[in-house]
Amino acid sequence: MIQKKQLSLLNRADEACDLLRSHINDQHVVRIISHNDADGLTSAGIFANAISKAGGRFHVTILPRLRDSNVKELNKSRYKLFVFSDMGSGNLESISKLKGDVIIADHHQVPGDSDPEIQSDNKEIIHVNPHIYDIDGTKDVSGSGLSYLSVHELGYYELAPLALVGAYGDMQFKNGPTGINKLILDEATEHNVMRIEEDLKLAYANTQPLKKSITYTYTPPISGLSGNSLETEEFLDENGINKNETLDRITTDEYETLKDKLVEINPDIYGEVYKINNIRSELTNIEEYSNLLNSCGKNKEYTAALSIQLGRYEQFDYAQNLLAKYASTMQDGVEWIKREGSIQEQNIQYIYTEDKQQKQVAAAVSSIGIELGLLPDKPILSLMRMDNLIKVSSRTTDEMVERGVNLDVIMNQASANFNGSGGGHNIAAGATIPYNQMDNFIHLVDEMVDYQLNHN
Ligand code: C5P
Ligand code: C5P
Ligand code: ZN
Repeated sequence: MIQKKQLSLLNRADEACDLLRSHINDQHVVRIISHNDADGLTSAGIFANAISKAGGRFHVTILPRLRDSNVKELNKSRYKLFVFSDMGSGNLESISKLKGDVIIADHHQVPGDSDPEIQSDNKEIIHVNPHIYDIDGTKDVSGSGLSYLSVHELGYYELAPLALVGAYGDMQFKNGPTGINKLILDEATEHNVMRIEEDLKLAYANTQPLKKSITYTYTPPISGLSGNSLETEEFLDENGINKNETLDRITTDEYETLKDKLVEINPDIYGEVYKINNIRSELTNIEEYSNLLNSCGKNKEYTAALSIQLGRYEQFDYAQNLLAKYASTMQDGVEWIKREGSIQEQNIQYIYTEDKQQKQVAAAVSSIGIELGLLPDKPILSLMRMDNLIKVSSRTTDEMVERGVNLDVIMNQASANFNGSGGGHNIAAGATIPYNQMDNFIHLVDEMVDYQLNHN
């Protein structure tokens, strides 16, 4: 059943698709601007695929963050249609000054002081954002899902898997797909482009040997094994399971033993997994596909990320190497948290790093640290030094959000106090602040969390 508010969002997305189609028909090159993580890369991949399938042309730019200065820069070019995906809702004012038509397919919270229904006399701006319709943009749909909805009328159901790869990358599937994500999954299985299987939810199941695959599985956590390579090897040896083989290649007996033993540790480890049909085996699992794109993004290899999605595999082996490195960097990050923990304030905790590798994974391992019980369940800041600036990532849990914590509001307001900028989602948000204000920022965030916990 489609809810009324969902229908309103789908209608808005159809308006976007009409606009896109008219520009394709007029042979305009579509200017796509998107985010550098798996969600942003699949958002761009969906638009790029749809446009080229419809016989049009596009030009993609991938950015770590959209600044008003980036938008201003775009006004120097003469594109007739700009598409912002997985970003844009925080820059409505500057986007409204662009000279061409605009589609925004974004799931970030719209800042409180701006009107989501932006209008312009001389051009069309279609803002496709779930928050306008009171739909949860943190769990129920991601940038890639909104991008898929925005090309939906063109009928390319084979792009639905990319929408789910992006949503997975944004950690929207912790309790399985819900809301719009579920609608997209249903459509994908109906059209036979995806299938749902009961399986072990191990990371890198098709590409890494079990000894790594199990160690690298952080969600759901496998207590004692997740993040512990020695213990994982011992566990596999003791149970007579070939630790050097991938999950999809062990014997049925080995599989059954493994399943029983892992389910004993955490029942959530076995359940529905969402797989893509008719694609090379390394990309079958949406989790692996999403990690592959993320690792390309972290290494600024955006062309590789896009060409793979367009079905061109010249850079595939190279991307696989980046993925293997990314997975081990993540594991090093988990070791770092195990070794050093986090620094405690009253209501929050933080980690700080200047190391290039650690910066790549700090935000992710801060969440994993809480999930694995290595860190307390308090909102966590990852503080990463970039010369005179600090890049901040903040993460928290569903429990904290239920108790009133909203990191989007905190990152936005606290950073503004120190001439910085920030925002995001209630459960995960980011900011940039001057280095010399770091301590003040930490204290302000600590006070704001206290306030949110006690005034909600
Ligand atoms: O920019 P964007 O919206 O794509 O990124 C969302 C971020 O929120 C991701 O880094 C994702 O890992 C994080 N997230 C999280 N926990 C959730 C949902 C999202 O850490 N439950
Ligand atoms: O950078 P990080 O992964 O911590 O960002 C978490 C979430 O906050 C992402 O959805 C990101 O797009 C968003 N964000 C934002 N504005 C910022 C920084 C981060 O909207 N200035
Ligand atoms: Zn996103």
